[in-house]
Amino acid sequence: VRVALVFGGRSGEHSISAATAAGVMKAIDREKYDVLPVGITRDGEWVLPSVDAARFELTAGALPEVTPEVGREIAGLAEAGPVDVVFPLLHGPYGEDGTIQGLLELAGLPYVGAGVLASAVGMDKAYMKLVFAGHGLPVAPYVVVKPREWEESPSAVVDRVQARLRFPVFVKPARAGSSLGVTRVDDLTGLSEAIEEARVHDPKVLVEQGVEGREIECAVLGGRAGAAPRASVPGEIVVDHDQAGFYDFESKYLSATHARTDAPADLPEAVAERVRELAVEAFEAIGAEGLSRVDCFVTPDGEVLLNEINTMPGFTPISMYSKMWEASGLPYTELVDELIQLALE
Ligand code: DAL
Ligand code: MG
Repeated sequence: VRVALVFGGRSGEHSISAATAAGVMKAIDREKYDVLPVGITRDGEWVLPSVDAARFELTAGALPEVTPEVGREIAGLAEAGPVDVVFPLLHGPYGEDGTIQGLLELAGLPYVGAGVLASAVGMDKAYMKLVFAGHGLPVAPYVVVKPREWEESPSAVVDRVQARLRFPVFVKPARAGSSLGVTRVDDLTGLSEAIEEARVHDPKVLVEQGVEGREIECAVLGGRAGAAPRASVPGEIVVDHDQAGFYDFESKYLSATHARTDAPADLPEAVAERVRELAVEAFEAIGAEGLSRVDCFVTPDGEVLLNEINTMPGFTPISMYSKMWEASGLPYTELVDELIQLALE
């Protein structure tokens, strides 16, 4: 079976995608799968690198890149040669958002992960929240700032945030990932600047009320051919608040000391069960397939709120998705195999 691993891409999460691809290249069963790496540069050029995980690994301080030099340039996937299944390991806009999924649907090629709509909904935090809320799933209060609203009257936006939310708030680009453009804002003074910062990544912005509680994540797998999706044991992100205000890009990928990830998370059984149940409900609410990582908050009194879903979560060495499955008894190589098999069903 020939598997194309598509990675890199035009989003701000380009390097994280390359690191994810390195992880999959290392773990995939090469006896069973013929691996074809397909890189997309930051400018959207398609290239064919060799299978060389080391080149794309995330090492402290250096973010991997797909450049035109890493391989022969091709006009697009069709020129890569015959492929049985595609693993679109792209994070963020132009890949995790339904765009490549649409291309693959048009080409009639099976692919790993969520389809067009679920990918698009999972990428856009404003629609994601609407869909969660529409399914009666618990989310924290938030305000969406549409491009025109901000351009016409920043002060009206600030008033609306103040009227509806309590500080601290988190200001986020609606469509981005890996905490790019995200700022924690503790009082009114920092709000406008944070919105401007988020707008660098996406003109549509979300302001979310901060939740006092633990950051708990859960991995979901499955969902094709009528089989019920299943949830892993939950994991926990423990941020060292002396070093980082929140689980930002630096803590995620560049620093080994700013945050720690535990899997399984030390939670009362009933809370862990609630997280798993909610994770599957979130997966089904957006109509995801294959895989997703669902991020939650658990408040001090044990209430579970949904933060977000990621339809193509990271597989970097410190990534939670694979770690939570390992802790649930599913090793990484088998996880990759199952994902590919789900796509081929
Ligand atoms: N957006 C990053 C890759 C994640 O969710 O893991
Ligand atoms: Mg996300």
